[in-house]
Amino acid sequence: MAKIIPVASGKGGVGKTFFVTNLSILLAQKGQRVVAVDLDLGGSNLHTMLGIKNDLYGIGHYIYDKTLPFDKIIHRTEFDNLKFIPGDALFVGAANIPYFRKKKILSEISKIDADWVILDLGSGSTLNTIDFFLASNCGILVTTPELTAVLNLYSFLKNSFYRYIFNGLKKNAEVRDRLVEAVKTRLEKENTTFCELLKIIKKDFPEEEKRIDDLVNNFFPKLLLNMGNNERDIAFGENLRKIIKKNMGLEVEYLGLLPEEHQARRYVIARKPLSVVENESKWVEGCSKIADRLLEFHDYPVTIFEDDVDSLDVVYDDMRFVIE
Ligand SMILES: Nc1ncnc2c1ncn2[C@@H]1O[C@H](COP(=O)(O)OP(=O)(O)O)[C@@H](O)[C@H]1O
Ligand SMILES: [Mg+2]
Repeated sequence: MAKIIPVASGKGGVGKTFFVTNLSILLAQKGQRVVAVDLDLGGSNLHTMLGIKNDLYGIGHYIYDKTLPFDKIIHRTEFDNLKFIPGDALFVGAANIPYFRKKKILSEISKIDADWVILDLGSGSTLNTIDFFLASNCGILVTTPELTAVLNLYSFLKNSFYRYIFNGLKKNAEVRDRLVEAVKTRLEKENTTFCELLKIIKKDFPEEEKRIDDLVNNFFPKLLLNMGNNERDIAFGENLRKIIKKNMGLEVEYLGLLPEEHQARRYVIARKPLSVVENESKWVEGCSKIADRLLEFHDYPVTIFEDDVDSLDVVYDDMRFVIE
């Protein structure tokens, strides 16, 4: 079965599509069979970064045409081993995707025959994006060292985590209603963390304690710092990890740090993936290292690095590599 890696962020413009484009190409160059999927409905532009013309059947067609086989929207690219599913750039309004169609898309994605399926998501906490992010329990969270990007990413993860727990509880069970209720009233009492809230629910529903603990212990999002160059930038990631730990009880592992890349915009405008044209770029080298990390995923989907490796040290190494 393919490893599904959704790539999400709280804020737009942090480099998700740029990363998905180059990561997909680099993994494919390393001999992996990759399918890159544009799931930024309403804002699809993965085709542009991949240098592919916007005239192919994609998710937008699939949403509307129930007779269209899913295979028909998986296209070959000029890059060996890399296939591509376009988004909905040819449509207006496809972003309002009906629930059963979304379920069907998720089920088809889980059946794709490949080594890696990389999902390029829209920015922010809309329900579609959260559901696509939850296609795997080890999605990648991207942020830049910028307060609004970090805060929005925190909101995105909080919303996703809540929906993940909600989905994991039994349907029509009282405990679900209780969770919804608790989250609602918490809004009035901001000082209760999501962690504490789950504790209260477990106490009220002891028979659900194991299920809730299993859910919490099986959620492993990874954090990528893009456009980071120095210790101050890393501090943004550390503050984010601290607040996630405190409020959600989750230890988020770093995937790595990628630097500012001054050529990025130029190549996007030229519709040429950076990893194809630039082999001198620190960003591309860093992205290639990240591809290797994914290939060596120590204990998929739990930890990328060996148990005795602290991912913060890895991020510091990435930073030193940038300023070398
Ligand atoms: N590390 C980087 N350094 C400089 N510019 C970058 C970097 N990563 C991405 N960009 C640029 O930022 C812009 C937004 O990136 P994009 O991938 O479209 O963001 P998102 O998909 O998160 O909205 C693009 O023009 C891209 O080239
Ligand atoms: Mg994008």
